Amino acid sequence: MTSQIIPVDPFDFIAFGGTGDLAERKLLPALFQRQQAGQFLEPTRIIGASRSKLSTEEYRQFARTAITEHVRAEEIEPDELARFLDRLSYVSVDAKSGDGFAELEREIGDSDRIRVFYMAVGPALFGAICAKLKEHDLVSADARIVVEKPIGRDLASARALNDQIGGVFDEHQIFRIDHYLGKETVQNLMALRFANALYEPLWNSAHIDHVQITVAETVGLEDRVSYYDRAGALRDMVQNHILQLLCLAAMEPPASMDADAVRDEKLKILRSLAPIDADNAARLTVRGQYRAGASAGGAVKGYQEELGNGQSTTETFVAIKADIANWRWAGVPFYLRTGKRLSARASEIVIAFKPIPHSIFESGAGRVHANQLVIRLQPDEGVKQWIMIKDPGPGGMRLRHVPLDMSFAEAFNVRNPDAYERLLMDVVRGNQTLFMRRDEVEAAWAWIDPILAAWEDSGREPQAYTAGTWGPSGSVALIERDGRTWHDPN
Ligand code: BG6
Repeated sequence: MTSQIIPVDPFDFIAFGGTGDLAERKLLPALFQRQQAGQFLEPTRIIGASRSKLSTEEYRQFARTAITEHVRAEEIEPDELARFLDRLSYVSVDAKSGDGFAELEREIGDSDRIRVFYMAVGPALFGAICAKLKEHDLVSADARIVVEKPIGRDLASARALNDQIGGVFDEHQIFRIDHYLGKETVQNLMALRFANALYEPLWNSAHIDHVQITVAETVGLEDRVSYYDRAGALRDMVQNHILQLLCLAAMEPPASMDADAVRDEKLKILRSLAPIDADNAARLTVRGQYRAGASAGGAVKGYQEELGNGQSTTETFVAIKADIANWRWAGVPFYLRTGKRLSARASEIVIAFKPIPHSIFESGAGRVHANQLVIRLQPDEGVKQWIMIKDPGPGGMRLRHVPLDMSFAEAFNVRNPDAYERLLMDVVRGNQTLFMRRDEVEAAWAWIDPILAAWEDSGREPQAYTAGTWGPSGSVALIERDGRTWHDPN
C-alpha cells in the first residue's frame, strides 16, 4: 500500500543552527525523505545558516554524512541524494553581531516563495535572530518561523520568548513544534476518537475508570548534560509532550480539523487541569532520580555520576495523578509518568474502562477483566483493544482477556515516517493544527509552575530508583493506593 503524496508549493527553508545536532539527526534526513517521496516542487531551496565558517560545498558534505548516517542505506536513492544536495547552500551568520545577515538576504533574494525560518538553536538566540530578520526585511507575508522547545523554563520566561517572537511574526506564522504531535499514533488517536462512532459515547466518566499515559525511555543523559540538569523531567517531557497527549485524549470533539478549532479544545483541557501546589503536591506527584543499574542490556551509571555532580537534585522521573475538573472527566484520574533509564522504551496511552456492573459467569469461568484500549506510540505503533471472549473449544464457559490487535507496521506495509517529515510539510503548507498556540504553551506552564514551586519549597530530594526499573516505589504507591496498577508496557 502506498501513501498519497500531495506536493507542497516551492519553498526556501532556512535552517538556523544548520550544522547542529537537530539539523543533522532530524531536519536534513526528514527533508530528504520528503523530496524523495516526490513532495517537493521546484525551485525549492535549503539554506544552512550557522556560525561555523563553511563553504556551500562543505555544507553539502555535512548533509551527505547526516543523511547517510540517519537514513537507512536501502532507503537512499543515489540520484535523489545528489539532487537534494544540489538544492543546499550555506551562509555563515552570527545572530549576536548580525554578521552574515546581509549575505543571507542576498542568498534568499527577492523571491515571493514560502520562507521557512527554522530555529534549530537555543532559545536565547530566538529574539536576536527575529530582530535581524526584521531589520533585513526578510519577514515576508509568506514567511513562517519554527521554534522548538524549551519555550521557557516557566510561565514568565515563556511569555518573554513569545513576546520576542510575536514582536516580529504574527501568531499565524509561528509554528511551535512538539514532535510528539507528529507521531503517527498520536494523529491516529484523533482518527480513532473522531472517525468512529464506537468510542465517543463511552469516552467519559460514566464508562472510563481512569487513563494512564506513560512515556518511558531507556536512555540517560545522552550528551545534553547542561540542558537536562537545568530542566528535569517535568519541564522536559510533561510540560509539552505528555500534556499534549493528555489534551488529545481528553478534549471535546472539535468542530473540524481546523487549527484553531483543535487548539481551542486543547486549551480548555489545559485550563481545566485541577491545580497541584504546595497543598497537594506530596500526595499527587512523585519525583525520582536514577541510580546505577542495568539498562538496555548493560551496566549504567547513576544520574549524578553521569553528570559529574553528586549534589544534583534534578528529577529524571516524574509521576503525577492529574484531574481534569470538567463534566466529562470529573472523578477520572489521569496517571502520568515519564522517566529516563527505565526498564524499556515504551510510550502508550491506556484508556481503562470501568468493570462490568454484574457478572453472570460462575467463578470457574475466570476473572472478568475490565476493557482497556491501549494506544501504543512507540515502539510497535498500534492500537490494542482488550476484550473478554469465551475460550475457544468445546470445554465449558471459560473466559479469556485478549487484544484485538491493530499493529500498524503489520497491517499497512508502509514506512513509518519520522514525526519531523509530517510536521515540516505542515509548516510549508501553513497548517498549524499540530503545532502549539501561544496560549496553550502558557496554560501548560501555568499548571506546571506551582508544581515546580511546591517541590522547591518542600526541600525534598527526588526518590532514588535503580536504572532499568520502572521508577521509584512512590510511583507504584501513587496508583496502587487508589486500587489500580500501572499497565505493563512490556
Ligand atoms: C525530547 C526530550 O523532547 O523528547 C528528550 O527533550 C527525549 O529528553 C525525547 O529523549 C524523546 O523523544 P522520542 O521521540 O524519542 O520519544
